[in-house]
Amino acid sequence: MCGIVAYVGGREAADVVVDGLRRLEYRGYDSSGVVVAPGAGAALQVVKRAGKLSVLQDALRTVRLGGALALGHTRWATHGRPSDANAHPHLSEDGRLAVIHNGIIENYLPLREALQRDGHVFGSETDSEVLVHLIEQAYAGDLAAAVRSALRQVRGAYALVAAHAGHEEVVAARATSPLVVGVGEGEQWLASDVPALLPYTRRVAYLCDGDVAVMTCAGVRVTDMDGRELERPVETVDWDAEAAEKGGYAHFMLKEIEEQPSVLQQTLGGRFAPDGRDVLLDLSLDPSAIDRIVITAAGTAAYAGTVGAALLETLARVPAGVEIASELRYRDPVLDERTLVIAVSQSGETIDTLEAVREARRRGVPTLAVLNVKGSSLAREVDDVLYVHAGPEIGVASTKAYLAMLAAFALLAVRFGRARGRLDDERAEALLRGLRGLPQALEAALATRSRARELAERLATARSALFLGRGINVASAFEGALKLKEISYVHAEAYAMGEMKHGPIALIEPSVPVVAIATTSARYDKTIANLQEVRARDGVVIAIASEGDGTIAAHADEVIEVPRVDELLSPLVNVVPLQLLAYETALRLGRDVDQPRNLAKSVTVE
Ligand code: G6P
Repeated sequence: MCGIVAYVGGREAADVVVDGLRRLEYRGYDSSGVVVAPGAGAALQVVKRAGKLSVLQDALRTVRLGGALALGHTRWATHGRPSDANAHPHLSEDGRLAVIHNGIIENYLPLREALQRDGHVFGSETDSEVLVHLIEQAYAGDLAAAVRSALRQVRGAYALVAAHAGHEEVVAARATSPLVVGVGEGEQWLASDVPALLPYTRRVAYLCDGDVAVMTCAGVRVTDMDGRELERPVETVDWDAEAAEKGGYAHFMLKEIEEQPSVLQQTLGGRFAPDGRDVLLDLSLDPSAIDRIVITAAGTAAYAGTVGAALLETLARVPAGVEIASELRYRDPVLDERTLVIAVSQSGETIDTLEAVREARRRGVPTLAVLNVKGSSLAREVDDVLYVHAGPEIGVASTKAYLAMLAAFALLAVRFGRARGRLDDERAEALLRGLRGLPQALEAALATRSRARELAERLATARSALFLGRGINVASAFEGALKLKEISYVHAEAYAMGEMKHGPIALIEPSVPVVAIATTSARYDKTIANLQEVRARDGVVIAIASEGDGTIAAHADEVIEVPRVDELLSPLVNVVPLQLLAYETALRLGRDVDQPRNLAKSVTVE
């Protein structure tokens, strides 16, 4: 949430920074700004605008910002509405100091009042601006020392970068919000996330909480808050630059939906035991030492967790449930050393999820992350990580990461089932065979796009939509409804199908279509009965059904066919038409698919 980019080196720094911001715009798009140090002590030059990055880019066409050092920001507003004044960077009154901040300074009000009493004049409504004034006040020729001194006075979460006209250096600091250094030869970068760096370098070093870094052309020196030198290992990221590009697609979301067959192969790759009856996962935890699993996550990752819980319970017979991370951490949960807490996250930076994990750790509970982004905060805080290998996900609405999470949970559930002696050879073999065949099934599911396009009109004109599923596909219904809400702004609700008659059935009318997951399952007959109940009340049913289902047409107004797979694996296939329905509906309504209003991809504030 909010994107920072900083650069120092031989290139035109403003261009590098704006290019990096373009790659981080999924982190927020309420406003953006860039500041350049022209060098030789000259005052800093800043351009910042409310609105998407394109507004800033238009403004930059008429201003030349030349210099070897620049900082940039793309904002998701917390304190202060999106406006030019509230956009970052924030400058000191003499124009010699610039600061960009992600996160929230919790004690900004008393600090602001004290600074105002000392004569500081504020130009914005943000919490961040107190940092400029605090650093300015502490500055006596050493920028890093001034940053440290300012940070001693603040409480809260931050990633910040600061530049001063008198120094050819960027000073950065982190507490909670991510920052990664891009290492080059005679040039260096800093960014909130790796995609900003990919066109330039794959050598990165992740800053940790409490780090203060000084970046010059020659390199980056990291210290703690007391100025003691620290080592941060340089790693090579395995994402390539193209993976974070649109590559000819109209939207990142569509690209990421279509990548899913190959993403699945990456998730599964090298993880099948040679006998085809078990899974190889490099985990230190002992499945037989676990009596209960609590899965915690936010948004789409929580729905992946719901499927995961069902898989773990069914295949490993271990009680498993999902707790929304923002609730778990404040709920004084009952957790003991035989409970495993699994945190699920694409970014590994969602603060609610991180805090839930911290709560679990405080209670001495073993923790595992089902995670996409390597080097993220979550990876550092858990006992074990199961990477889902989805590659960079840029579209704000998560698609391929969700699918990869489901596949990772399927692997984990098989492993747990085998280790706990609850999954026999035959069933394990059949499931793993099913998983192997899924990339092909996903290719076929992607062919539902034309059908989704035809049906988008129904959803685009709907007053609301109901998404219904049973069993392991209840979560699919929730994920389908969430996708539609997020990118098309059409209201949607999801329910376990059997619950419909206990309330939501009152909503049924022709302008409230029902998207029903009706693929082959042990409860297919019940599903059909529920669809009858909808149609008996003039409801419109759009059914996601298994290929070759001869009966469904009689119980639905519209049918989208997907390949027939094992019921436990069906959420991986069923989500594809749901993603495509949301995508096509959003397109029809002219929505900004990759940057839906009010959202940010990685939510690093509570
Ligand atoms: C935000 C995004 C969602 C995402 C959730 C969890 O709310 O808008 O799309 O599912 O965060 O993100 P994570 O990175 O932890 O999976």
